[in-house]
Amino acid sequence: MLYSNVSMTASSIIYVSGNKKLSGEVTLSGAKNSGFKLLIAALLSDEESTISNLSDITDLHSTIEIIQALGGKIEFVDKHTVRLSGAGLKTWAIPEKFEGLSRAAIYFVGPLLAKFGRAAIPMLGGCNIGKRPVDRHLEGFQTLGTKVTHKGNEILFSGKIKGGTFCFPKPTHGGTDTLLIASALSQGETILENVGLEPEIDDLINLLNLMGAKITRTLNRMIVIQGVKELHGTKFCCMSDRNEAVTFAVAALATKGDIFIKDANEQVLKAFLKKVEEAGGGIAKVDGGIRFFYKGPLRATRVVTKPHPGFMTDWQALWATLMTQAEGKSVIHETVFENRFKYAFTLKDLGADITFFNPKVSKKEKVYSFNIEDDIPGNNHAIKIKGPTPLQGIHAKVPDLRSGATFLLASLAARGESVIENAVIIERGYENLVEKFQKLGASIKTR
Ligand code: EPU
Repeated sequence: MLYSNVSMTASSIIYVSGNKKLSGEVTLSGAKNSGFKLLIAALLSDEESTISNLSDITDLHSTIEIIQALGGKIEFVDKHTVRLSGAGLKTWAIPEKFEGLSRAAIYFVGPLLAKFGRAAIPMLGGCNIGKRPVDRHLEGFQTLGTKVTHKGNEILFSGKIKGGTFCFPKPTHGGTDTLLIASALSQGETILENVGLEPEIDDLINLLNLMGAKITRTLNRMIVIQGVKELHGTKFCCMSDRNEAVTFAVAALATKGDIFIKDANEQVLKAFLKKVEEAGGGIAKVDGGIRFFYKGPLRATRVVTKPHPGFMTDWQALWATLMTQAEGKSVIHETVFENRFKYAFTLKDLGADITFFNPKVSKKEKVYSFNIEDDIPGNNHAIKIKGPTPLQGIHAKVPDLRSGATFLLASLAARGESVIENAVIIERGYENLVEKFQKLGASIKTR
């Protein structure tokens, strides 16, 4: 049975009447950037696994559609729990109709190679925040023994992973995930160097190890995988969404409110908590979660986004909204994606005082996570925000997931009415965000 609350359609519009303090308690959903990968990893075994605390979001449902199209058995136990196995997989090619839908396709290469010795995937999708190539994933597959070729819009993989050592030219969250999934079932030992440190990667490692994999994180961004011949089914609970935690924390501070975020985990939010303290926001760490509250005028901050454990790129748009309400000049320098400031034009329309600039960077190759050759003239890598400025309601169209959450947040803090179009993108990554804001006292509805 397919459970889902995902309700918005492409024409969905959110209406917000802003300037109300948000307060109360909210519970986090399962992590968007972990759930779908856990499902794909579970396909490595023909035995059933049960994965719980999955978020009811469109990104998860599109992964489930791919699994079904490949013949994999998957059923909902309840709205947030699925049971699945790789037993029914019957084809090694992800159908073309999934082209451009999400980033999920590349993660399937591991289970397909393990079962069929080959895989074919269509072009990837995901938020339009940069070029987002997968060259580091592909180089890794090739180094570890899989042949990679291109045919039209498809990428073809042949030959199981043999093992070996691969050093990522620069860390990548997704690349670490795909090679982990692909190397868990293999003949030899795989050593991955210069890997990502994101907590969602650890969620994946924990699941794979429970399934019988032998994966160890060692110091210095290194992961060692002793390949095993088979994996078995297990039960696993997906981690909570740290991006959702940041969304509600910023909502509390931007609306001068007070929100207790149940399940917010200090360990995965350290860089964010540090900035909240620097800005003068209230934080109370209590059993079972973290309370964020407004305790007086906020101060400007300087933020440089970095891969984990740094200040996460997914948080910068939300943070920029908050900094429009802080006293002084804030700076945000985005170093992970090459084009992630599109939302800032809309914040300016709301009344924010934002200027774009490109900081002088002497060692670009070292500072930026994206490939320097993918950067094009016209991309802005930093903004200056002069605050505080009152925000006015707006009529805006959502360009990508985090911008969508940012527009919502800005509308909640703004005076007057806002209309947010193309709101369906928000459901790619947030379960019931509108309903959760309603419960915290927001005047917000969908049509
Ligand atoms: N990159 C390459 N080549 C590669 C891989 C990455 O050039 O082969 C570049 C990317 O274009 C980017 C940088 O390296 O500029 C970092 O990319 P990374 O691979 O680390 O990111 P990702 O795996 O594509 C995931 C999340 C993102 C999150 C980043 C950083 C998922 C599905 N997506 O992306 O989430 O921002 O890690 O933590 O896990 C979001 O949730 O809104 C979102 C974009």
